[in-house]
Amino acid sequence: MAGAKPKNARGRGTTIVTSGRTPEDYFGFVNPPVYHGSTVLYPDVATLKSRQQRYTYGRRGSPTTEALEAALTELDGGAGTVLVPSGLAAISLTILTVVKSGGHILVTDNAYQPTRNFCNTVLKQLGIETTYFDPRAGAGIAELFRDNTELVFTEAPGSQTFEMQDVPAIAAAARARGIAVAMDNTWATPLYFRPIEHGVDFAVYAGTKYVVGHSDAMLGTVTANEAWWKRLHDTWGNMGLAAGPDDVYLAQRGLRTMHLRLARHMASALEIARWLETRPEVSRVLHPGLESHPGHAIWKRDFSGASGLFSMIMKPGPDAAVAAFLDDLAYFGLGYSWGGFESLAIPFDCASYRTATRFEAEGPAIRLHIGLEDVADLRADLEAGLDRWRAAGGAG
Ligand SMILES: Cc1ncc(COP(=O)(O)O)c(C=O)c1O
Repeated sequence: MAGAKPKNARGRGTTIVTSGRTPEDYFGFVNPPVYHGSTVLYPDVATLKSRQQRYTYGRRGSPTTEALEAALTELDGGAGTVLVPSGLAAISLTILTVVKSGGHILVTDNAYQPTRNFCNTVLKQLGIETTYFDPRAGAGIAELFRDNTELVFTEAPGSQTFEMQDVPAIAAAARARGIAVAMDNTWATPLYFRPIEHGVDFAVYAGTKYVVGHSDAMLGTVTANEAWWKRLHDTWGNMGLAAGPDDVYLAQRGLRTMHLRLARHMASALEIARWLETRPEVSRVLHPGLESHPGHAIWKRDFSGASGLFSMIMKPGPDAAVAAFLDDLAYFGLGYSWGGFESLAIPFDCASYRTATRFEAEGPAIRLHIGLEDVADLRADLEAGLDRWRAAGGAG
């Protein structure tokens, strides 16, 4: 955009609104157009052979993809960003960028379950061994390093159970041994935690969640530091993982309000989480922003905010009580994913697939995504659900 921009001084909200937009290139229109395209024409053979043309083929990028990449790179303080069709593709691309046949990878035990599934199937087929580690490992992760360990894959707070990790300590231990570190930072977004600033090499996101923010598109993004950017970009190109232009555009559109949405998700979720802690039907609330959370000190030290996703462990109760609670909620939909404007609730059971730790739940476990509805309505909805829980035999 025209005019001098004090780049270093600006806040993240300003970056979110401004970065990656160049209206002067598009006749003053605020947003870049959506370029649909495969073939890009060259003016002559000489240009084609020179390999100097800025855009070469739809799969290799367009002004639409570059606008979002630029904004995400600046937000995370990285060297570059690639866009892929889903969050899971961002995870698998990152891992395949680093590991080699015969190698070894350490993955946090509370990683998103499909991350584990990728390691247990595709990586195994390629002759790459996975060891799952206790998310509380911290600097002790070094004890698990082997001569062939190439990557530590972290996620904090972890999926479903929200344990925090000492990411700076893990990153320092890995760096001392020349091992790369990746982090699934979907929960915090670069607004509330910047992995690369804390020694991580790859910041990995399901853009499907808060960047898109409206549950209307799927996207994955990976931002790498200087050391890994070229290798990431090459692997992305070699694998042909192009994201569709309409989804990229929707993500870019969502991004421009992400700071406002997240502030509201954070405030409402904390209010609901604190209220749930006082309820007799609820045994524990798993939200790192709560003083009662075992990882609260790390969250407070490293993160500058929280998003809208957390879990609770109920007091003991039958399956029928969980169904009575969830089936008739008015504002909480029952469904996977999260990060959109709407509230969601889903039961989960992670004990069946974790291997390095044992999650002991004293009652049924439920994950909530607190959306942008009025918090009083959400609370009343949950309150009525808790009444149904008790009526169906749930403790409280
Ligand atoms: C923490 C986390 N990472 C990654 C993903 C995968 O994202 P996608 O559904 O876009 O593949 C999810 C989806 O639920 C997630 O919760």
